[in-house]
Amino acid sequence: MDGNGRWATQRGLARLEGHRQGAENIERLLDTLFFYKIPVVSLYAFSTENWRRPQSEVKGLFSLLNEFLEKKLPVFHEKKIQLRVSGELTRLPARSRKAIEKAIEETKSYRRLVANFCINYGAHYEICRAAVLACRDLLCEKDKIRPNLFERYLYTAGLPPVDLLIRTGGQKRLSNFLLYQIAYAELYFTDVLWPDFSPGHLEEALVEYNKRTRKFGGLVTEERDSSS
Ligand code: FPP
Repeated sequence: MDGNGRWATQRGLARLEGHRQGAENIERLLDTLFFYKIPVVSLYAFSTENWRRPQSEVKGLFSLLNEFLEKKLPVFHEKKIQLRVSGELTRLPARSRKAIEKAIEETKSYRRLVANFCINYGAHYEICRAAVLACRDLLCEKDKIRPNLFERYLYTAGLPPVDLLIRTGGQKRLSNFLLYQIAYAELYFTDVLWPDFSPGHLEEALVEYNKRTRKFGGLVTEERDSSS
């Protein structure tokens, strides 16, 4: 969800106003996700590197998160959305942690859409953490560490791999986001700043995704048929 800061600066507003509009934009996209029966969406809300931002912005982001959870939890209930969080919650302000735990607990039975918020998330840390946990459990059977077992130790355990990764805001990089899970994801980059990313823009990304041929390292059906 990149581009909040620039969206605000362009309008002479404080960066936090951009984040606020960015948070509001999440709800705007829900109906499109439902319409296309997308079962899981992961949203990069705060990275392990975002602590490097000025303290005032970090504090503002966590206040926004508290506000978001308080205001939108009824929407999650109403629309039967399961809230999940990927990331290390121990470093979060206690109030945010409690609000997150409450939302996770209250929505855990919903199946219509899983909204996986990545908060204090970094893929490097996630993979190192999973390796430590997996080795601890499977120490005597190292040769048994296979992708399907290893994945159980990631924050995203039980979620499918990423099909489509959308980065808004014009940068063409991955910024330590779900690096394990995006092995075969289709990548989509757009200059649109996150607060402006509308249902129409999301549809454009889905149309583009549908044009791609996904081979997962194999061959497309026709090629396989003609060579056999
Ligand atoms: C990147 O834009 C965005 C973030 C670091 C935070 C994303 C947060 C939100 C959308 C709102 C808070 C989330 C919730 C769930 C309440 P940037 O600040 O790097 O933008 P810039 O590149 O234009 O400066």
